[in-house]
Amino acid sequence: MKDILDRLEERRAEARLGGGEKRIEAQHKRGKLTARERIELFLDKGSFEEFDMFVEHRSNDFGMEKTKIPGDGVVTGWGTVNGRTVYLFSKDFTVFGGSLSETHAQKIIKVQDMAMKARCPVIGLFDAGGARIQEGVAALGGYGEVFKRNVLASGVIPQISVIMGPCAGGDVYSPAMTDFIFMVRDTSYMFVTGPDVVKTVTNEVVTAEELGGASVHTAKSGVADGAFENDVECLLQMRRLIDFLPSNNESGVPQWPTLDAADRLDDSLDTLIPDNPNKPYDIKELILKVVDEGDFFEISAGYAKNIVTGFGRIAGKTVGFVANQPMVLAGVLDSDASRKAARFVRFCDAFNIPIVTFVDVPGFLPGTDQEYGGLIKHGAKLLFAYSQCTVPLITVITRKAFGGAYDVMASKHVGGDLNYAWPTAQIAVMGAKGAVEIIFRGGTPDEIAAQTKQYEDRFLSPFVAAERGYIDDVIMPHSTRRRIARGLAMLANKHVEVPRRKHDNLPV
Ligand code: HXC
Repeated sequence: MKDILDRLEERRAEARLGGGEKRIEAQHKRGKLTARERIELFLDKGSFEEFDMFVEHRSNDFGMEKTKIPGDGVVTGWGTVNGRTVYLFSKDFTVFGGSLSETHAQKIIKVQDMAMKARCPVIGLFDAGGARIQEGVAALGGYGEVFKRNVLASGVIPQISVIMGPCAGGDVYSPAMTDFIFMVRDTSYMFVTGPDVVKTVTNEVVTAEELGGASVHTAKSGVADGAFENDVECLLQMRRLIDFLPSNNESGVPQWPTLDAADRLDDSLDTLIPDNPNKPYDIKELILKVVDEGDFFEISAGYAKNIVTGFGRIAGKTVGFVANQPMVLAGVLDSDASRKAARFVRFCDAFNIPIVTFVDVPGFLPGTDQEYGGLIKHGAKLLFAYSQCTVPLITVITRKAFGGAYDVMASKHVGGDLNYAWPTAQIAVMGAKGAVEIIFRGGTPDEIAAQTKQYEDRFLSPFVAAERGYIDDVIMPHSTRRRIARGLAMLANKHVEVPRRKHDNLPV
């Protein structure tokens, strides 16, 4: 019996070594942890239960029959994060560069299927070179099965992809279909084809960082939702993110204990808006002062900074925040900001996370650059996303709400449940000067000045909208958290029936 038990331990030890000491050392030298070290850090201590540790590939081409490594380049299983069950797979770069074979794919598929049955999140830790080249179509077929499951799980269980090494091919397509992608700075890359292939096909010489580093995907392409300095920070932040997310689309958001009173007032908010309406202020200050204990997990902080998206809690329960940022481009809505916010709003709605929207928007960004880039379609995405929401929507206009952007930003007309304005709000078709120059074209400077004053007095306030009931109440800035908390409690059982249809036709 002892021999049998020892043999099991030996086989386990062999599997735990992955691609061997030398490759593990190389992994560490690059500043990366191994697949197993990452799992240890990410999950609650001792909670990991592994599946398929002894699975090997079945390929006999290109000498592969001589190189079988137990586990086949991916560590899979389940465990807990602060007591809540999650499923995960962690690609092992030390084994064939973490590349995906037929059997490697089957391990991932098993985790995806089990997570769907148990209705728990799936987290993929990626450090892999795509399809295993030696396996050809067997690997491509494996990816197809993974992709299909990504899509079936979308909107049912949260799916998070963490990019922790050079990732190519299927190892970027699968993440692209999940809810969130996070990267590690300087050690992780995402590209459909790597720098060598780029050189061969287009003659372009480009480094991995320039082609698909965190600096590219968090700021330029918007493919990644955030980046962290190293593996350790990244994994600890992923634990924090999991704490905000529901387990599935029917579970409701998690409730955590908080010492922060829901009716806390904040007098400093009464002076947040500068006297000069053209002066910027930081909308994140408002978010941080409204959420429990100032704890805010920002999504896509480095991309389209003119809009802020992220998760916070009120009375211990997760809320999605969307806010125009007057510090960047005066908070204008452009294509990137619209796409970023639309995706976030749709995630929240799919997973029944209430949304609080802070509005200070001078309108949509004019110009050929935006129009040629499809601003009409991209802006429509955000309008569509809000209009489609069935989750509680609470909107607070802090200052400007001009033009179509007023409608888009969770106005009463597209489904806002509670629409509040601060006394500093200005709700109009456009700013006073622009408006008067159009309706009094050719007027003398004195006439223009007089009409501008009149327009400002009449329209640049919250009261015209409040007189019509488009704004439910004009509230004191210091009471914003209390009003939102009461509103969310009142809306806790919101239920909206939508007409039966196969699916909508979002302007993608
Ligand atoms: C088999 C692979 C591999 C792969 C890497 N390796 N990628 N083995 N299939 N796809 C192996 C290498 O042979 C090497 O083995 C080890 O992993 C480490 O790779 P290196 O190249 O030494 O590492 P590095 O210099 O860091 O470069 C990493 C890399 C590069 C950028 C990922 O390996 C690369 O470009 N790989 C190919 C990427 C690719 O084109 N994949 C196919 C995509 S098509 P040894 O034994 O030397 O340690 C695809 C289709 C899916 O995925 C469908 C999409 C819709």
